[in-house]
Amino acid sequence: MANMIMAKSKPGAPVGAPAGGYKTVVYFICFVAAMGGLLFGLDQGFIANSLGTIEQVYHLGIKGGENYAAILATGGVLGALLSGIFARWLGRKKSLIFAGFLFSAGSIVSAFLPPIIILSACRFGLGFAVGVASFIVPLYLSETAPASIRGSMGTLFQLLITIGIFLISLSNVFIGKLVTDPMIALPVMFLVVAVFSILMFIGTFILPESPRWLMLKGRKEEAIKALTKTLNTKAEVDFEIKEIEATLSGNKGAGMSIIFKGYFIKIIIVGILLQMFQQLVGINVMIYYAPTIFGYAGMTGFVAMMTVPIVNMIFTFPAIKLVEKWGRKKLLYVGAVCMLVTMVAAGLAFHSIGQVTDPALVSPGAKAVLLIAVIIYIFGFAVSWGPVAWLVCSEIFPLEVREVGMTITTIVNWTFAGLVMANALTFMHAFGNASIFYLFAAFCVLAIIFVKFFVPETRGITLEELEANLKAGVPLRKLGETK
Ligand code: BGC
Repeated sequence: MANMIMAKSKPGAPVGAPAGGYKTVVYFICFVAAMGGLLFGLDQGFIANSLGTIEQVYHLGIKGGENYAAILATGGVLGALLSGIFARWLGRKKSLIFAGFLFSAGSIVSAFLPPIIILSACRFGLGFAVGVASFIVPLYLSETAPASIRGSMGTLFQLLITIGIFLISLSNVFIGKLVTDPMIALPVMFLVVAVFSILMFIGTFILPESPRWLMLKGRKEEAIKALTKTLNTKAEVDFEIKEIEATLSGNKGAGMSIIFKGYFIKIIIVGILLQMFQQLVGINVMIYYAPTIFGYAGMTGFVAMMTVPIVNMIFTFPAIKLVEKWGRKKLLYVGAVCMLVTMVAAGLAFHSIGQVTDPALVSPGAKAVLLIAVIIYIFGFAVSWGPVAWLVCSEIFPLEVREVGMTITTIVNWTFAGLVMANALTFMHAFGNASIFYLFAAFCVLAIIFVKFFVPETRGITLEELEANLKAGVPLRKLGETK
């Protein structure tokens, strides 16, 4: 973790990147931990192309189907709420093991097609696991990955969410087509999720515990061992231990009372607004309802079902590099502008389409505008707000209250995700199909203003330096500047 960035600002820090590159274990750690992201995606994307099959097996009707889908968000809120406690008392590693277990149990039991009450309890459990994972994974990665690749590794979490959404969308389409008996198709769909869940569950046992958490618990020897696994030299380990010790001693006696300090209140508002805007730009309307919305414009089939997951996944790849090269803020601007322009374009397309009774009559021009707008919109989200909101929330809070900060911001994310998912289609029916796109465009404008004035650039600065700046009263948007 002692790297060029630290060396730049700290006299005595080991200089330069490790001669032989990072240890393979570093990438393995990040990969296994980020499996939590994959399962987030598998469960988030599960519904879109399986709802028809679920309906055939359980005869839930529209409302029942909606309720079943939405329980994931309820579980997510509760999981996020309790995960701060798990992270603090159980540690990051055991919390990940617990999430892996819930993912496995929830999907395996669902594959037996139990009564609806148990099936729903399983989806709630899966949501709970997603809530825990969406909190612990970025936290674990930000604390364990070397600072110079922290951004990229943090982005891996988002990449795996999008890969998960893509994989499950695709496999559910194929299973639905290949297996005609829904009593067999549905268990197979659940078993796909179960395979990945078990992989994560087993993988989590191999992870080292977060050295920062170990130090927080006064377990220095174990922290040194954990750091030795990821860092190349003893000098790097010593430097890192000193950094964490300095931060901890600065916090001694402060404890949870930090949450009443002005600087915490300021930074928590930044985190809350980041996660709120991540949802209010409308992403999950596309993830859950793109096929329905394309259907309103007369488009069906593979393009309607797979455009969003494919574009979403592909454009998360460049984000991994760009988040370090361009920095977080520039990406947030680029993404918000893309989404703003395309939401206006989609609104205009729907205005010209109007309330069609026969989708075959929709003009090819309007369809093309809508399709291109959705593609560029998803590009805008995937390359920016998707990864960056989670990443920045894992970086900005002081160590002592990092769990509290991330718990609150994760809950905000799930709450707004649930709100948007539960009301979007009703909103379109009440105010016209175009209305929702203009609403999302307005939120993009607010998001741009928010980024300009309040979001700090966190690229290339250690978490400890960020914390010191915050406590020294440096203005929010300048927090990431090293002295
Ligand atoms: C969001 C999810 C969304 C996903 C899409 C995540 O960053 O938090 O709500 O479904 O991105 O890729």
